[in-house]
Amino acid sequence: MNPTQRPKVLVTREIPQPALDRIKEFARLDLWPAFPPPEKSELLRMVGDADALLSMLTDPIDEDVIAAGKNLRVIANYAVGFDNIDVAAATRHGIAVTNTPDVLTEATADLAFTLLMAAARNLIAADRFTRDGFWIAWHPQLLLGQDVFGATLGIVGLGRIGEAVARRARGFNMRVLYTARRRNLQAEAELGLQFCSLEELLRQSDYVSLHMPLTAETRHLIGAEELAMMKPTAILINTARGGVVDQAALTEALQQGTIGGAGLDVFAVEPVNPEEPLLELPNVVVAPHIGSATVETRTRMGLMAVENIQAVFEGRRPPNLVNG
Ligand code: DGY
Repeated sequence: MNPTQRPKVLVTREIPQPALDRIKEFARLDLWPAFPPPEKSELLRMVGDADALLSMLTDPIDEDVIAAGKNLRVIANYAVGFDNIDVAAATRHGIAVTNTPDVLTEATADLAFTLLMAAARNLIAADRFTRDGFWIAWHPQLLLGQDVFGATLGIVGLGRIGEAVARRARGFNMRVLYTARRRNLQAEAELGLQFCSLEELLRQSDYVSLHMPLTAETRHLIGAEELAMMKPTAILINTARGGVVDQAALTEALQQGTIGGAGLDVFAVEPVNPEEPLLELPNVVVAPHIGSATVETRTRMGLMAVENIQAVFEGRRPPNLVNG
């Protein structure tokens, strides 16, 4: 095959090598190699002659970018969430949009539980305390956290990841409440979950873990009013999207002791500004949006995104189409 006739795939960040190698089997690879990520002007320029765009969750794929991609046939987002893409605009331009569901479910649920445990047991403070030489003697009152085993966990959004978190909670003998757009009777029976309203969940839970996509309906779903419903000892875990929480209200709730703590992998603006008052609070454990960050998961995500692109080029329906 004449290489110049092969379609061109623009990849906006270096993804695991097996996925890049797979692209080279059927297309020309245009890889943005550098760190930091491309500015919008770069994206507009590079997308101009691309047939496919393999985008990251932090690339804003708006109407401008979509319109600039004159040859674009598919936008394969390297994430399960796709709130960074103007899907309606892509649909108007006849461009398929795909995501990477399932393959990151367990890794993201693991991180939600990691944040929960770390926040519950003051793990970050304990690590610093030990390294900084403050450990003079064992003390019965040192770095006391709160029980996870047997506590009540509230899951907001019982999709794949929410359900995976519920499975983990079973091992900790937790009472698990959930709220979602639809009841899931099968999950209730299998995992012993209890369906309830958001308000009831917030009032009763020791830990609240968020697992919904960011949409117009879920933006700031957790604001001052909802935080005020939570127990003063409750810990909020967010591995979904920063926008589902009103971050200013959360900061205030943590400062005032309205809630006990938070474990956050996602923020209103990413990367979060290191000067952000939220980061000064001792009762907050943070991570830089690493929910799916394991070697195996990121590789599977890459291969899945590439499979979606290849399907479009071969005239097949991509397996993970979100606008069709
Ligand atoms: C996703 O894929 O949407 C997750 O946020 C990755 O961690």
